[in-house]
Amino acid sequence: MSLTEEVRQKLIESARQSRRWAYVPYSHYAVGAALLTASGKIYDGVNVESAAYPTTMCAERTAIFKAVSEGEREFTAIVVVTSNGGAPCGACRQVMAEFGMDTWVVAADVEGNVTLEMTVADLLPGAFRPEDLAHE
Ligand code: THU
Repeated sequence: MSLTEEVRQKLIESARQSRRWAYVPYSHYAVGAALLTASGKIYDGVNVESAAYPTTMCAERTAIFKAVSEGEREFTAIVVVTSNGGAPCGACRQVMAEFGMDTWVVAADVEGNVTLEMTVADLLPGAFRPEDLAHE
């Protein structure tokens, strides 16, 4: 089942607000994320860059890791807000897939225009999943 307009708007606003905390001295591309858990909580996250560029962390994974580190593992939706509504990167898609293929993923720009809305299953078809390790 897809997201209600109320939930979508609430998450977009939360991601938009969190974006102000993005630490982006190198790319200047601020990303804010808002993750809705099955228990009804919202965890936000931002991208945190590093002078050692590859150690940068994306906003989506920041939000997911915050939630998981507080005991959450079931996610209903994740919304990411950027200046232009850019899509989640491959590494973030993989981490989303770890916790379920039915989570809704929404990307929006700062004005709230939705540029992408689909499930993790559609965003990362054929994902490597926890059960793929079960054969070892
Ligand atoms: N970034 C995210 O936070 N999420 C994504 O899914 C795409 C990329 C960040 C990483 C880096 O700080 C900046 O955007 C430019 O790549």
